[in-house]
Amino acid sequence: MPHEPVSPGKNCPDCSRLVEFRAENSKAFPDWHNAPVPAFGSLDASVLICGLAPGKQGANRTGRPFTGDFAGDLLYPTLLKNGFAKGKYGATPNDGLELLDCRITNAVRCVPPENRPTTAEIKACNRFLRDEIAAMPGLRVIIALGTIAHGAIVSSFGFKKSAFPFNHGGMHTLNENIRLYDSYHCSRYNTNTGRLTPEMFDAVVRAARHYVSSPPK
Ligand code: URA
Repeated sequence: MPHEPVSPGKNCPDCSRLVEFRAENSKAFPDWHNAPVPAFGSLDASVLICGLAPGKQGANRTGRPFTGDFAGDLLYPTLLKNGFAKGKYGATPNDGLELLDCRITNAVRCVPPENRPTTAEIKACNRFLRDEIAAMPGLRVIIALGTIAHGAIVSSFGFKKSAFPFNHGGMHTLNENIRLYDSYHCSRYNTNTGRLTPEMFDAVVRAARHYVSSPPK
């Protein structure tokens, strides 16, 4: 049986800079979520997708990872195409979209200024990621979106980052049950600059689909 992972409370005090930013946003936009964003999807899933951190006007506004910003416009249709979601992505948490065999979380749960968490913030939030992973008994694949998510996952397993260099389209074996697939982050910047095309992103998600659709050895 999955256990409920330890999650940061709504007023998590761990990172002073993020607490300050949260207070600023709460004042300017009182109707927004403005709190650590919980993971989305079942703990029974075989796939965990790990992003960087909530976008200010995306997950930090809506309260659901990748919901309401550019990155979600690429992520969710790609999940729908590969059978990891059903319904319709409507950029709002009440769009009825359901994840199938897939859960989504972030390396850092609170929105950081300029979308850039500090090393200390990534480290402080790592215990939540570690417990998220520990709470998924059937986990077989983690998809890291970008180098920061990749590093946070590698650290959460107790490995040195240098042991598993980030490699878009690459795969790393983390233990006998869990593989890590790397993708460049599906951000607006990466797609606008052509670093990540929808086809490249689809290929990573398709590889995960292919792997989890075959029975565990
Ligand atoms: N939204 C998220 O929840 N995470 C990201 O990494 C980007 C946007």
